[in-house]
Amino acid sequence: MTAFNTRLPTGTDLLAEIDRLRKERNAVILAHYYQKPEIQDIADFVGDSLELSRKAAATNADVIAFCGVKFMADTAKILSPDKIVVLPDLDAGCSLEDSCPPDKFRAFREAHPDHIALTYINCSTEVKALSDIIVTSSSAETILSQIPPEQKIIFGPDRHLGGYLSRKFGREMLLWPGVCIVHEAFSETELLKLKEQHPGAPVAAHPECPPAIIDHADYVGSTSGILQFAKTFPGDTLIVATEPHIMHQMEKAVPEKRFIGAPGADGNCNCNICPYMALNTMEKLYTALRDLEPRIEIEEGLRIAAKKSLDRMLEMASGTVGQGDLGAR
Ligand code: 13P
Ligand code: SF4
Repeated sequence: MTAFNTRLPTGTDLLAEIDRLRKERNAVILAHYYQKPEIQDIADFVGDSLELSRKAAATNADVIAFCGVKFMADTAKILSPDKIVVLPDLDAGCSLEDSCPPDKFRAFREAHPDHIALTYINCSTEVKALSDIIVTSSSAETILSQIPPEQKIIFGPDRHLGGYLSRKFGREMLLWPGVCIVHEAFSETELLKLKEQHPGAPVAAHPECPPAIIDHADYVGSTSGILQFAKTFPGDTLIVATEPHIMHQMEKAVPEKRFIGAPGADGNCNCNICPYMALNTMEKLYTALRDLEPRIEIEEGLRIAAKKSLDRMLEMASGTVGQGDLGAR
């Protein structure tokens, strides 16, 4: 467990204090769409993994308060080593990162020396250092389309995103067997029941969903792509198969439309809330800005090695506007 003291003086006005500290520290607050609504609302910028990486690389702030999970804050530090990067809760991990220990990934690579490693950003800094090119869900297609068809590819750690790309491109890839526990929990049976209750409502799904869910989706894309679809689809009700906190942005952008979260196995569990993202709270954001802890630190040799595959992503995705270029199926 993280040992930082998050106890606050009684009566602390969190909104005002976070705002004061942000100015005092010359800090930028970056938040992912899966953060709690109050964190999204106080952030300077809310985005998907690609957009947040770009913001972290370009910011003039002295401090980046990263409200997301650890691989995202690590990415910010890799790209902006001179900034202080704080993550409100250092235990905010990711099941995909956990599924891919660097020593096993290294052995897998060594067993396939003629393959390049195209790796999802949801992985550790060590795995990034062992990879050739990083992708996010919004940049994966643009990047894959630039790799010559004869080039053999290892794709990790998300086998569902890899499988989706493989099917869409008709291109075989060796898939690492990782999954996102959140997207894995959607139930096809319950989704079909929901579709029956809302005839005509389209389904928007993140490519981390298993194929049984993707097969029922009208739109597949990154979080920002799904958000864009929510703003532009012609109907009035949308079924959303990704982490439900993104619906906060949808409800703000198009309050006249109805957004319904796709169900988990028992129809109404909370199993689609990312337990790692949920560790960040306003209290922890406040103490992170106050104490400049917990801080992300990365050994310089490792950082430089990991930066190569991230820089390749930023170069190859330069035409991607972060609006879910995975597009409609
Ligand atoms: P996006 O890049 O689409 O925001 O996805 C990040 C993520 O962790 C989804 O589970
Ligand atoms: Fe990782 Fe899934 Fe949470 Fe995204 S939603 S951070 S992939 S566990």
